[in-house]
Amino acid sequence: MDNSTVIISPRTTPLTGTFRVPGDKSISHRALILSALARGKSRIEGLLESRDTMATLEILRHLGVEIEGSQGSYMVEGNGMEGLREPQDVLMAHNSGTTARLMLGVLAGRPFLSVITGDDSLRRRPMARVVNPLREMGATILGRQEGNLLPLAVKGGKLKGTVHTLQVASAQVKSALLLAGLTAKGKTVVIEPRQTRDHTERMLAARGAALEKEGDRITIKPGELKAMNVKVPGDFSSAAFLVTAALIIPESHIRILGANLNPTRTAFLKMIWEMGGRVKILQEWTEGGEPVGDLEVEYSPNLAGIRVDPADIPLAIDELPLLALLGSLARGETRLEEAQELRVKESDRIAVTVSQMAALGAQIQELPHGFAVKGPVELKGGRVHSHGDHRMAMLLALAGLVSQKGVVLEGSGAVDVSFPSFFTDLGIERGTCHR
Ligand code: S3P
Repeated sequence: MDNSTVIISPRTTPLTGTFRVPGDKSISHRALILSALARGKSRIEGLLESRDTMATLEILRHLGVEIEGSQGSYMVEGNGMEGLREPQDVLMAHNSGTTARLMLGVLAGRPFLSVITGDDSLRRRPMARVVNPLREMGATILGRQEGNLLPLAVKGGKLKGTVHTLQVASAQVKSALLLAGLTAKGKTVVIEPRQTRDHTERMLAARGAALEKEGDRITIKPGELKAMNVKVPGDFSSAAFLVTAALIIPESHIRILGANLNPTRTAFLKMIWEMGGRVKILQEWTEGGEPVGDLEVEYSPNLAGIRVDPADIPLAIDELPLLALLGSLARGETRLEEAQELRVKESDRIAVTVSQMAALGAQIQELPHGFAVKGPVELKGGRVHSHGDHRMAMLLALAGLVSQKGVVLEGSGAVDVSFPSFFTDLGIERGTCHR
């Protein structure tokens, strides 16, 4: 785990100006994978260059796909799904659940042997949710805990289309099965317990896949994908950290340009509005099949606590920990329940949010599947640890900015997983400090 420590001093000046957030992580992974599976050249603009997305890129290279580029602009030359070749070494997904799960869906349909693994965190995360349905489709997958934990060895081959009723609302699982469905015989059907982000469906359809959606039921038939150019919008999940910073740092006023506003991603905005936060969508347009827009955010000193609607949980899954900070500064109680999926993210985000925010002075209580936080309190500050989780690092950094004494943040390098310019964008000096 990374040991870089950053000192975050209380911020005495407002956050102002215009920001652009890095490319969307989910869309970047999918842009790379779908371009690799298509036949021909696809150009990707605005690709997120972070530890997670580079893991996907490197894995695709190991599978024989030619990918060239820099500074967000990449050319991927796919040779169709049959063009992937047996990798000569173990495939390394690093910290990225999306890489591991989506690639398992791809590898399940390929007639060769591959082994995929990840870092300490990813090797603890549940894979049975993708492995079991892929086995039902005909793939052979071996690993610890009956195939629940990486490293996993995949001997793929001819798959058959199957109907999958998902037990957990997970876009990663849905996407893995839809990708496997591209080469399976017959129809593959995925039924979701709750709507999750739908980038895979949009991007597959844009490339000519035979995909249909009817209520909670998505059906895909096998077929080729066409090469196309993709423009990746800004990542709403990264924008959410800047939105939160502007809401809580006195007199702040910012604009964020070109953020993805896909409704399956933006329930956090709904939560902010319910709390009384001043966020406006200035304009909205469509780019590459995704809604995109500019946001304006103003300091909002009169926030009120909310109770999160469980139906919104998958639509704000990566933003939920921010409610612990907003809730600490808001009047009354903010309550999150039925969010057990947070326990199997890059860290146990319920336990880490609660323990680290409590260490900074939050009045927060752990619930079996969530947390309850009371406000308003003055956060004192102190020494905390990201537990190697990018979103925990960014949450705790923001808490430091509005704390009395500041925060010593250990494991700050985790931000590179999704938002490498996070500290720079917020004017926080990133030099490693040993204390
Ligand atoms: C993602 C889906 C979500 C999310 C993750 C990215 C994706 O995970 O937390 O950061 O790109 O499909 P789950 O599908 O496991 O909920």
